[in-house]
Amino acid sequence: MSSINSTIQRLTLISPESTCNTDLAKGPWAFDKGAPSYGPGASEADATPASTPKQGDIPAEYREASDEELTARILAAKETLGERLVILGHFYQRDEVVKFADFVGDSFQLANAALTREEAEYIVFCGVHFMAETADILSADRQKVILPNLAAGCSMADMADESSVEECWEQLMDLYGNEKTPEGLAPVIPVTYMNCSAALKAFVGKHGGIVCTSSNATTVLEWAFERGQRVLFFPDQHLGRNTAKAMGVPLEQMPMWNPNKPLGGNDAQTLLDSRVILWHGFCSVHRRFNTKQIDKARIDFPGVQVIVHPECPMEVVDAADAAGSTDYIRKAVAAAPAGSTFAIGTEVNMVNRLAAEYPQHHIFCLDPVICPCSTMYRIHPGYLAWVLEALVRGEVLNQIVVAPEVAADARVALDRMLAARP
Ligand code: 13P
Ligand code: SF4
Repeated sequence: MSSINSTIQRLTLISPESTCNTDLAKGPWAFDKGAPSYGPGASEADATPASTPKQGDIPAEYREASDEELTARILAAKETLGERLVILGHFYQRDEVVKFADFVGDSFQLANAALTREEAEYIVFCGVHFMAETADILSADRQKVILPNLAAGCSMADMADESSVEECWEQLMDLYGNEKTPEGLAPVIPVTYMNCSAALKAFVGKHGGIVCTSSNATTVLEWAFERGQRVLFFPDQHLGRNTAKAMGVPLEQMPMWNPNKPLGGNDAQTLLDSRVILWHGFCSVHRRFNTKQIDKARIDFPGVQVIVHPECPMEVVDAADAAGSTDYIRKAVAAAPAGSTFAIGTEVNMVNRLAAEYPQHHIFCLDPVICPCSTMYRIHPGYLAWVLEALVRGEVLNQIVVAPEVAADARVALDRMLAARP
């Protein structure tokens, strides 16, 4: 096995209790056969929908290559492809993949980055499936978006499927009707987190709604409340709750919608009184964080600053010193005076990278167990080398294509987000 992965190198040195799954030490190809699964990591216990794409085997030469060989092959392919190629990497991506990225950022920044590289024929997205779909929607028709491992999905995005959301919408329309108030407010505006399928972005585009990311959720909710009496927010209950609560929406006016129950498990009056209806979705990475970890960090390191991602549960966000998107976290660390101590509640690859980039601070992950985002983790340099060398030969592998009619409606919702300003 390649020793290229620094996280995994650490895994082999530590006790099994310090990692969420010792299978992390295997290559992701060990899990790319058979039934779809998220593989080892934070989402491994989540149910995988039948529609989840499978990757399938890649040639042995990529699975068996040494770190040095993969690095040399990736750099050579990048050199040959030159300006025809742009590689995008999410903050949660492994270091050994991020080092090849032309842009590294949060999901909002990467959506913009895809827009700014018109000269690139190929956009290789080292992130997860919904990010690659978004890049395909926002990029020019002649540009091709490639996801190196098709099994790099997002378990939270998979918690809201199109038919369940359509069914929810029908029930809400039956309850509220679709008449606007005299002030012009619609009964309900759908708002989706970027972490969802293109089909759901198209759904909100068609129904007067908008997309948000964790970096603009407040601005987007303000946009929605200017147009509607209430919001249907999916798939992440935590981002919806944390953002609306900070805007002053009382918890009693934020019922949860369970797609397996009539009226989402609510009575009609609760839904009539609601301001934000929260879909029953969550991120298994951020659900691992809890207030006990924060209490311990404060005892162990007096003066520690606790910063968490807003996908964390409300009690964690409330107990932290600050909450914000991955880029917000990065900027807070960058702006701090030397010698600061940070306990960070987000994905471990990003936290470890910040710790390496800012040695003047003491930075650690709030969760002491090494447990990466299972899906992001599936992009290994072996897959990157495989898709890049195919491009050099003129062969496009793992292209992500959103159907034009879906892309058109999804683009409406994304453009609303890109235009929304605080
Ligand atoms: P950001 O929008 O902060 O990059 O987060 C994306 C994500 O998937 C977090 O889990
Ligand atoms: Fe999805 Fe959570 Fe991974 Fe983000 S960290 S890509 S929300 S599973």
